[in-house]
Amino acid sequence: MIDTSEVLITHEQIQEMLDKVAAELNRDYAGKPLVVVGILTGAFIFCSDLVRRLEMPVIVDFMQVSSYVGEVSSGVLKIKKDMSFDIAGKDVLIVEDIIDTGRTLALLKEQLLKRGPASLKICTAFDKPDRRVTDLVPDYNGITIPDKFIVGYGLDLDGEYRNFDDIRVVKQE
Ligand code: IMP
Ligand code: MG
Repeated sequence: MIDTSEVLITHEQIQEMLDKVAAELNRDYAGKPLVVVGILTGAFIFCSDLVRRLEMPVIVDFMQVSSYVGEVSSGVLKIKKDMSFDIAGKDVLIVEDIIDTGRTLALLKEQLLKRGPASLKICTAFDKPDRRVTDLVPDYNGITIPDKFIVGYGLDLDGEYRNFDDIRVVKQE
């Protein structure tokens, strides 16, 4: 039995979070064109809400990646869908739904830096710092959450619950 009745973050709190993060980005990138790279699938809602609050010229692109821990390495990045835009010399913002261990974004950051962006920063809607196994720190973070598995607002459990307009805690019995 999966119970998703506990609301951790309300729709209203998410709107406040969006306003806060957008204000920081509008301040830091004022007048500078920005390439926003949303990480599919989880960040599709956050990314679409966020870019509509941005005031600088924006290009939106998407990537789909996953990471797994290899037998000999600390982690391997699998790019399932690459972005279609050339980021060399551009200011780039990776937009993620949630940072957990930090493995996926640490590996992705390493890969994207090789493409020579002018700058590369990370923006996440939610951060679970308690579970970090890398030294990755997001440049922009919406809401810090405790070590709980959450769904809604783009986040899923086996592909489900992404459509909830608030954030719920998953309890499995
Ligand atoms: P990590 O930071 O490499 O461990 O992986 C982060 C990814 O794991 C996120 O992009 C999500 O897809 C997934 N994830 C981590 N925690 C949660 C959660 O609480 N709910 C839903 N997905 C999660
Ligand atoms: Mg994800």
